[in-house]
Amino acid sequence: MCGIIGYVGPRPVVRVLLDGLRRLEYRGYDSAGLAFFADSKIEIKKSEGKLSNVERLVQGDFERTQWGPQKLHCGMGHTRWATHGKPTTQNAHPHRTGSVVLVHNGIIENYQEIRDEIVAKGFEPISETDSELYGFLVVDEMKRGTPFREAVRLSFLRLHGACSVVVLCESEPGVLVGIRNGSPLVAAVDPQGGAILASDAQALLSYTKDIYFLENGDMVVGDSNGLKVQDLSSGKEIQRQAQHVDWSAEQMEKQGFEHYMLKEIHEQPQTLVDTLNSILDRAHAVPFPLAEQPGVESLRKASELVLAACGTSWHASWIGKYWLERWARISTQVEYASEFRYRDPVIRPGALVVGTSQSGETADTLAVIRESKRRGFPTLAVTNCRGSTLSREAQATFFMSSGPEIGVAATKTFSAQILIYLLWAGYLGLQREQDPEHKQKLQKLFDDLIRVPHLLDQALRGEGSGLVHEVRDVASRVWNKKGFFFIGRGLNFPLALEGALKLKEIAYIHAEGFAAGELKHGPIAMIDSEMVVVVIAPPDGWREKTISNLQEVKARGGLILGVGAENDKKLRGMCDEWISIPHIEMVSDIDESLFPFLIAPVLQLFSYEIALKRGTDIDQPRNLAKSVTVE
Ligand code: M6R
Repeated sequence: MCGIIGYVGPRPVVRVLLDGLRRLEYRGYDSAGLAFFADSKIEIKKSEGKLSNVERLVQGDFERTQWGPQKLHCGMGHTRWATHGKPTTQNAHPHRTGSVVLVHNGIIENYQEIRDEIVAKGFEPISETDSELYGFLVVDEMKRGTPFREAVRLSFLRLHGACSVVVLCESEPGVLVGIRNGSPLVAAVDPQGGAILASDAQALLSYTKDIYFLENGDMVVGDSNGLKVQDLSSGKEIQRQAQHVDWSAEQMEKQGFEHYMLKEIHEQPQTLVDTLNSILDRAHAVPFPLAEQPGVESLRKASELVLAACGTSWHASWIGKYWLERWARISTQVEYASEFRYRDPVIRPGALVVGTSQSGETADTLAVIRESKRRGFPTLAVTNCRGSTLSREAQATFFMSSGPEIGVAATKTFSAQILIYLLWAGYLGLQREQDPEHKQKLQKLFDDLIRVPHLLDQALRGEGSGLVHEVRDVASRVWNKKGFFFIGRGLNFPLALEGALKLKEIAYIHAEGFAAGELKHGPIAMIDSEMVVVVIAPPDGWREKTISNLQEVKARGGLILGVGAENDKKLRGMCDEWISIPHIEMVSDIDESLFPFLIAPVLQLFSYEIALKRGTDIDQPRNLAKSVTVE
């Protein structure tokens, strides 16, 4: 879960590395560092804390990194999410061992064995990391006369565990060696001459959109002529095709918003439109006209769905389950990917296993897909990232069209995920259900779904919508309360889980989500006037029951924040604080299945405003990383 970047070519390397790391910082931000050639020597500048600390260290270095008649530059950088060893400057990457300097992302599982071996040989590691040990293996190999590139390859074969590395050697200036094996690494040819490697395509888009998404077991050697790919185990050269990606560098800017998270909340209407357009074939005059694409056939054939995911993607999968069961009457299990892989689950014949992951790199979700394939089950991915490991390993992928999501808190990708599930539910519902009334309802659901992005856009941007002000106002009164419970029934239950996760994640407040009916089975003991209970009760079939649960809280002195329809006077009258779900009363004819698209942004904005009041680091909350590539 670290970000790595390497560059060789004519551009000022310190600038390239800093720019790349800024785009990769979402992957980890507890320390950072750069290494670059200056006067044929490799210099390292690193620091604990954020990249800005390193930026200060390299202020004088921009002009002094070129060498030779070609005026080349070469270097690499790293932003860390600590696994082995505390986030100190000493443990920060890059690590030097003699003439070899490296950055590493992932985990070396046989770390102890390698450490014992190199210490016995008289080497003295100075950091607590597993990464540094790999450098000793390379140096040891070179001592035996093995050339640098081959030493990098042979030493890597000694490592167990998923990781990627980029390595430089002082005796071979201008040669950049990268290996991908389990942790992501992409590469590109710099159109000005040279090569660039990074953990994620986002770091390369300022230079090119033609990206080599390396495979596990690929070793790439970059120099001023471009790059070559070799097979890690044999060393033989292999051919890889670059893929053209359509994300732009501008999409990765804040565009006037104070935080990426706020920008991404506001991008949800566009995300919905883009995802609809990419998954549907609107030329067909049927509701839910899923375009024929790899994966549709597996959906049609499935007798049962198993949805595996983590975090927000897991919450989205719960909403998917409710819809798939209601509209398509297909049995749907939702699984924590981290549990599924270790508990020897029963998967029934005919099941289709779906891994949902914004990043497409979450280790536990990948493991579910691998295990399911090993057991002979068809697999599907739902992800936002083309070229991601998940999309390459699952048999087919449905891509969300959210564009880059930089804020660590997932927002627009949540909406895109649930949209894809609703499209599946509608499509399968029409395939499986013959009842004309059901079909009519699906037609109406589809017609209304098409209106949702516009409604949401009006709510978020439209003049006088008042949503942002209303949320800010409430947040200003409750931001310093002791804790928050989010409760809801039906579709509002996974929304409650998601609302609580957002608040924990970015505001560092104790928050929990419950199915409203569960409150009285234990959690209600915690209710007092310092506990805010967010009651999600839109005008749906569960509202009355939720109101009964609200009364239980009220009787125990809890502070109630209602989230419901603006014209719901009865509910409003029972609440201490109130946020109206935008446009829900105007569209009370819209099926309640569509409410999550309008409620999720309210909960996201609420967490955002609370975090703003508490002064936390909203886009890069402590201890987290956007892409969790370790178990
Ligand atoms: O990339 P993924 O969707 O697989 O990530 C799963 C979780 O790590 C992720 O949803 C996490 O919970 C988010 N930070 C939530 O906002």
